[in-house]
Amino acid sequence: MYYPEETVEEVRMKNDIVDVVSGYVRLQKKGSSYFGLCPFHNEKSPSFSVSQSKQMYYCFGCGAGGNVFTFVMNYENYTFGEAVKMLADRAGVNLPEPEYTEEMKKRENHRARLLMVNKEAAKYFYYQLRRGQGEIGYRYLSGRQLTDETIKKFGLGFANKTSDDLTRYLKQQGYDDRLIQEAGLASFDERYGMHDKFWNRVMFPIQDLNHRVIGFGGRVMGDGSPKYLNSPETPVFDKSRNLYGLNFARTSRAGNIILCEGYMDVIAMHQAGFSQAAASLGTAFTAGQANLLRRYTDQVLLAYDSDGAGVNAALRAIGILKEAGLAGKVINMLPYKDPDEFMKNLGKEAFQERIDQAENSFFFELRILQREYHLEDPEEKTRFYREIAKKLCGFSEEVERDNYIGAVAQKYGIGYDNLRKLVVSYAAQTGLVKPVERPRSGVQKKSTPQDHIKKAQRLLITWLTDEPSLYGKVRKYITPSDFTEDLYRQIAEKLFEDLESGQYNPAAIISLFTDEEEQREAAEVFNTKLEALSAKQEREKAFHDILYQVKKNSYEYYSGRLGGDVSALQKVIDGKKALEELGKTHISFD
Ligand code: UTP
Ligand code: MN
Repeated sequence: MYYPEETVEEVRMKNDIVDVVSGYVRLQKKGSSYFGLCPFHNEKSPSFSVSQSKQMYYCFGCGAGGNVFTFVMNYENYTFGEAVKMLADRAGVNLPEPEYTEEMKKRENHRARLLMVNKEAAKYFYYQLRRGQGEIGYRYLSGRQLTDETIKKFGLGFANKTSDDLTRYLKQQGYDDRLIQEAGLASFDERYGMHDKFWNRVMFPIQDLNHRVIGFGGRVMGDGSPKYLNSPETPVFDKSRNLYGLNFARTSRAGNIILCEGYMDVIAMHQAGFSQAAASLGTAFTAGQANLLRRYTDQVLLAYDSDGAGVNAALRAIGILKEAGLAGKVINMLPYKDPDEFMKNLGKEAFQERIDQAENSFFFELRILQREYHLEDPEEKTRFYREIAKKLCGFSEEVERDNYIGAVAQKYGIGYDNLRKLVVSYAAQTGLVKPVERPRSGVQKKSTPQDHIKKAQRLLITWLTDEPSLYGKVRKYITPSDFTEDLYRQIAEKLFEDLESGQYNPAAIISLFTDEEEQREAAEVFNTKLEALSAKQEREKAFHDILYQVKKNSYEYYSGRLGGDVSALQKVIDGKKALEELGKTHISFD
């Protein structure tokens, strides 16, 4: 962290979250919280809540959440340091010079060091692009009509032909061989020693949502193979949970996200003003990425290559989007191969038209399917219609299915009643596809026993934060180690410590986490919705149940660990005793 903890805390306390958020979102008071339309996803009715007492926000629609720092970081796309600075200015707090001490270096954990070495490498590549050896790369990018501004915005760079210059540079900066290898920037070889992974390539730094460099893609100069070389996965680079360009795309107000196949496509689109473009990272589109997108939009437009491979990739992506509850449409790029070429040839107005005419993904699927049938032949035509009917069974909601039956009947000149009957008969044979569950938060999918127990743990923390006076009544039954979820336990440790000392302060707990995803999860822990139970008795029972559930899970968890974990035995003994007592105890809210 850049600033002393006390300063960060002072800045936070002098910026009331309701005041700050009100500067961006219209809020209305409802009960003990304020509600408004979530600025982090598209919605028509407000599920974004801000709590003055907790000094936190949480969206029940998309799961975005955190404290005043997280909000500003997310909304303004600031780093933590920038958010602190802005809020300090706002509240008139004088900030000391940021600390970059030896001490801090020592405290850096592994992830942070990987991020640092990646950032340093990105800076090095960026610098090389403007030097003699990098001229070929610079000319290449200019030849692809990228402006200096675009090159800068995406931090594009160049990896020289020299086989170990990056490694040498990084070592000069104090990074050791092991870290450099672990970051995927170099490998070690008995004969040649350390050598750079990337050379003679223009470099595309891949950034996470906070604009931190987590990996690279490098395009070879000329016709070498592979055309694009990508960083391997590392603790900071999870290819299935990041998208290239999403750090910019997520704040675009276009109302949709355009998904492309390549780095160059994304860049060309942004340069043309389509700042909602993103791409997967040299791998196929994944469910994790769909879940990520759902935080920002409910409409994804596919701008995949128009060749056979692109069409197949689009078909796969449509399925994944559907699973995630996102509507997909397909942008027709013909006669060009990809968005980059399209933009170069026809320009942005033409592309906007293609966006407006994007094809419903179901019709796209049918159109592709149709290619396999000769419709002049009645046999084949019948088989094609049957296939359509089968696919229509995929719509589980009746209204939607009916709408599609109508539209398809008209489009393909099939009698509506005939098509409907066909669909009904298939549905009877095979059953309708189960409705796709649309999970509320971006992370969870089908609910498993594990989810239930996580939820119980969250509920307990939320409840104790909402009614801190209950803590005194349960402290003898529960300890932070009962929270078997790592992040939850860290929260409980701090929260219980605060409650013991009587200075409870949930929003400060969020600041313990530096990773955005962790902050979001932490906010969820403090904002898990309790059923609105009005009768005291019901509330007492619900609370008791949750407490019991958490305790029982912890007992079972440590029982399963008796062989390996020496501290488990004591926890099991204590757990058993607490459960027995809890079983006979009534916890009264009076
Ligand atoms: P393309 O080959 O379609 O990329 O691959 P492109 O952007 O059109 O390439 P240019 O225009 O010739 O430079 C699309 C994406 O697939 C991944 C990369 O992420 C690329 O952006 N890819 C492609 C690889 O990871 N490795 C490869 O060898 C090729
Ligand atoms: Mn291309």
